[in-house]
Amino acid sequence: MDTPLNVADFERLALSTLPVMVADYYRGGSGDEQTLRDNLSAWSRWHLRHRVLVDVDAADPSTTLQGAEVASPLVVAPTAFHGLAHADAERATALGAKQAGAAMCLSTLSNTPVEEVVAAAAPSPVWFQLYVYRDRGATRAIVERAQAAGCRGLLVTVDAAVLGTRERDVRNGFHLPEHLSLPNAAPDAGRMPARGGTSALARYVGEQLDASLTWDDLAWLQELAEIPVWIKGVVRADDADRAAAMGVAGIVVSNHGGRQLDGGIPTALALPEVVEAVAGRCPVWVDGGVRRGTHVLKAMALGASAVLVGRPVLWGLTVWGAAGVAAVLHTLQRELTEAMALCGAPTVADLTRDLVRPDGA
Ligand SMILES: Cc1cc2nc3c(=O)[nH]c(=O)nc-3n(C[C@H](O)[C@H](O)[C@H](O)COP(=O)(O)O)c2cc1C
Repeated sequence: MDTPLNVADFERLALSTLPVMVADYYRGGSGDEQTLRDNLSAWSRWHLRHRVLVDVDAADPSTTLQGAEVASPLVVAPTAFHGLAHADAERATALGAKQAGAAMCLSTLSNTPVEEVVAAAAPSPVWFQLYVYRDRGATRAIVERAQAAGCRGLLVTVDAAVLGTRERDVRNGFHLPEHLSLPNAAPDAGRMPARGGTSALARYVGEQLDASLTWDDLAWLQELAEIPVWIKGVVRADDADRAAAMGVAGIVVSNHGGRQLDGGIPTALALPEVVEAVAGRCPVWVDGGVRRGTHVLKAMALGASAVLVGRPVLWGLTVWGAAGVAAVLHTLQRELTEAMALCGAPTVADLTRDLVRPDGA
């Protein structure tokens, strides 16, 4: 293939090189993968209404996230196990994010310690995605490490009380190779179970993570953490209202990239009701199926203040390491800048609700 031009090109290249077990883990979803597909197609259900005769000579997607200046609203979503894509794992992802001037979220389940990732990304900001362990002492230790490392905030994932069954992983007997560990959760939960019949990740999550998590635990985390606490995985107005009333620092509209509840609402359709319920009390970010600059633009017009990308970053990491992550982010940033110019919206402040209309309205 010639030089990759867009996210789909990076995906094809990555899938042609990755072993099946890894390719399936990265690209797959739960159940029939309906939500996975719907996330992608739902952005097309919003149509753009461009403005004309606006000076867009210097269209500029830069913005600030929780006070940090970034090149665009594109953020690296937290995804587990970058060591399966590239030997430099999350260190390469962080370097790529830095090269693109982008913010990054690091998964609890990274193969690289949080301290090294924050150092590699600097001055780009890093948020830490938190899974809550049954062992609250272990959870507290992870929070303390993330904040001591300089993470800007915690994204507490709330859509994974139990792991959605990803049948590709069950069939492939998904497991981590011997040399990869989970250093953020070490020593007690620093290793995944060995290979054995079914998905080792499903066994790890069942044994280690807390399926009894409630709003009270969120309050406990807000008390415990010295950095801002966000929640990731909200798709409903009532939950968003409750979180905002509790004073969360921000909300991420997400269905985990179609990997949890299959049949769940695509995020492009859930975003408006969350934005409306929050009514400006905190920022709203969104992820799921974002593959083009126009998707980012639609999300921003619907009221998001940042947009996370999961799989596209993994494809870039697989293909060229740090340079591939930067290339994917630059590609999306370039597409976003072009879309802003063509919409007559030279700054992110110009990305307002009137730019989008639902299909059929
Ligand atoms: C391979 C993979 C691993 C993921 N691991 C995590 C994780 O550890 N924690 C988390 O909160 N979300 C995780 N997610 C979900 C992402 O943060 C994000 O919600 C999703 O990937 C966005 O959809 P997209 O891949 O279509 O951009 C993962 C997603 C993928 C594809």
